[in-house]
Amino acid sequence: MAGVALSCFAPWRFVRLARSVKLSSIPSLKFHTTASPMMGASVEQFNQAKERLGSLKNDPGNQVKLQIYALFKQATQGSCNTPKPGMLDFVNKAKWDAWNSLGSITQEDARQQYCDLIGSLVAKEGGSAQVAAQPAGSGPAYETLLVTTEDDITTIKMNRPTKKNAITTQMYNEIIAALEQAAKDDSVITVFTGAGDFYCSGNDLTNFTKIPEGGIEQMAKSGGDLLRTYVKAYIDFPKPLVAVVNGPAVGIPVTVLGLFDLVYATERATFHTPFSMLGQSPEGCSSFTFPRIMGPAKASEMLLFNKKLTAVQACEQGLVTEVFPDSSFQSEVWTRLKAYAKLPRNSLALSKQLIRSADKERLHVVNDTEVERLVERWQSDECMHAIMSFFQAKSKL
Ligand code: COA
Repeated sequence: MAGVALSCFAPWRFVRLARSVKLSSIPSLKFHTTASPMMGASVEQFNQAKERLGSLKNDPGNQVKLQIYALFKQATQGSCNTPKPGMLDFVNKAKWDAWNSLGSITQEDARQQYCDLIGSLVAKEGGSAQVAAQPAGSGPAYETLLVTTEDDITTIKMNRPTKKNAITTQMYNEIIAALEQAAKDDSVITVFTGAGDFYCSGNDLTNFTKIPEGGIEQMAKSGGDLLRTYVKAYIDFPKPLVAVVNGPAVGIPVTVLGLFDLVYATERATFHTPFSMLGQSPEGCSSFTFPRIMGPAKASEMLLFNKKLTAVQACEQGLVTEVFPDSSFQSEVWTRLKAYAKLPRNSLALSKQLIRSADKERLHVVNDTEVERLVERWQSDECMHAIMSFFQAKSKL
């Protein structure tokens, strides 16, 4: 799992994109400049973000440029409604894929995400990120996440929408760093969410495809070390942690939900842990938290037999706090979270720690045991065959 990163573009395709997706080619739009009651970003802020895009000195890379393009199209035209370009029309196909991957997110949400993205790029270059939320403290710059602090809320947004926010090794490390940073900053609550139409599709399966010199055993061992540290960051997190589940979730983003203090989901979200299909076993302390939350019978249906839950079912079983209509999800949730973030900081943190303290030691033991089992599973024929099937199925499309 660890030490592996597979570019989603073949090198020749990358070169073509580098030439073709120019910042200046992103269409401009005319908006009235009166402030309107948009969720988060105003029309003025959106227009400012557009202007700031032109002031970037460094090329942010193809993936980011595609994202900017997609968010712009979604913000100004809504969901992707143009025919899919042919397979050989590489550049337009990549642009179409990026736009299409945003699914049905609202134009308001796309404007906010556009502002956040430009704000984080400007901030990375040392400028002011006034357009969007402020980046968290003076912490590290992230490539796979958008991390912002605003209204006493630090938001960690997984930001690989074209890959359904699958978690690469780099992203695991960045999430660990972002949680460490959020634990120390001045925010009152920390929120986890995903960019685009998916919350997260779990472990990026390409993490398994590049075998290091030490062979599969070394890959499994370093993957285990990374996973242990990753889950530990959630177990030890000292402030209220909220998941804003903006779409479907598969694998580890589901299993760690038992370590969150609130889970808000759009009605479009689904919750799937297909471990046995992949020859693997549960992680994220779910072998302990799920039976406790939903009872062993329901937990086994999910963790052993791959049952995918709808948001409403997940709520009925106690994994989700509340489900919201997709059309009002962002505005309802953020209104509520902003109100919660006004509560006294220390009281919230200490109360959370009290609620979690009885199980904390136990959770670390569970984490160790689950990692040990997975290190063994990752080296099994069952797991290797399952990963190969995923990529074979893709190559047949
Ligand atoms: N690892 C690696 N790549 C992933 C991924 C993952 N976990 N999830 C999605 N992707 C990639 C797809 O390969 C695809 O890449 P491409 O555009 O280069 O072909 C892209 O993200 C979009 O996914 P796609 O499969 O086209 O979207 P979809 O809406 O049809 O299906 C999923 C989405 C998540 C249901 C499907 O991609 C899937 O089953 N992924 C694997 C999930 C999984 O098993 N996770 C591990 C759990 S332990």
